[in-house]
Amino acid sequence: MVIVNQQRVPRKRTYLMCSPEHFAVEYAINPWMDVATPVDAALAVKQWDRLRETLVKLGHTVHLLEPQAGLPDMVYAANGAFVVDGIVYGARFKHEQRAAEAAAHRAFYEEQGWRYIAPNETNEGEGDFAYVPEAHGGLVLAGYGFRTDPAAHAEAQEALGRPVVSLHLVDPRFYHLDVALAAIDDTNIVYFPGAFSHASQRVLAQLFPDAVVADDTDALAFGLNLVSDGANVMLNSEATRLAEKLKAAGYTPVPVELTELKKGGGSVKCCIAELRH
Ligand code: ARG
Repeated sequence: MVIVNQQRVPRKRTYLMCSPEHFAVEYAINPWMDVATPVDAALAVKQWDRLRETLVKLGHTVHLLEPQAGLPDMVYAANGAFVVDGIVYGARFKHEQRAAEAAAHRAFYEEQGWRYIAPNETNEGEGDFAYVPEAHGGLVLAGYGFRTDPAAHAEAQEALGRPVVSLHLVDPRFYHLDVALAAIDDTNIVYFPGAFSHASQRVLAQLFPDAVVADDTDALAFGLNLVSDGANVMLNSEATRLAEKLKAAGYTPVPVELTELKKGGGSVKCCIAELRH
């Protein structure tokens, strides 16, 4: 039998990023953060800039959010909102240290003329929300257990008019959905089952029988914290096994070095919000 590799087709995207000029690990709100670990902010900016350039070279549009002193986690731009069909469901951070970031994101969207819906419930934007546009007519996957309140899942469903599937995260190292699961194209996902409750694993297996499944080594290397344009998959360079799996499935892995931002508990996806028109 001849297995022909599927041809993956990229789609042009619009992204939002925020330079890590003020990045530091000044507090610890996830198990990856250790205030005693020194951070090379200049290297963080260099690595982040390479990621931004990679996206631009692939033909994507990258908007920039002005970084603010005193908000060291602002580089993780994915947490500031969740945008689907041109509607922006705003974030409301769990931890006080990051609370002010939501207003910076809101100002950006309002200035650009997006329809912004302010949340009442705690949620960390794309940190805990993913969108698969052609799966089941357009499906939102939502994580809870550490940051986002499950009440925000219902609120997001009402704001966006798309079905939201709640998934229970059970391992504190995978405190956000986007460190355990990612959309790799318009119909499919990649995920690490061990980050989810058994019941949520069953739900994912039912909805996505053809998903790419990652192992714990790749997950702990932040491999799932990836951004895909449908063909090119930007992922942490340490997740080598996952890169091979994606290649075998017809995608083009684009390894990215983000050693400094990993010290804050994030990687590729955390730095990139997708603005879906
Ligand atoms: N230090 C940040 C926090 O703990 C990291 C956020 C990572 N972002 C993400 N989308 N997972 O909130």
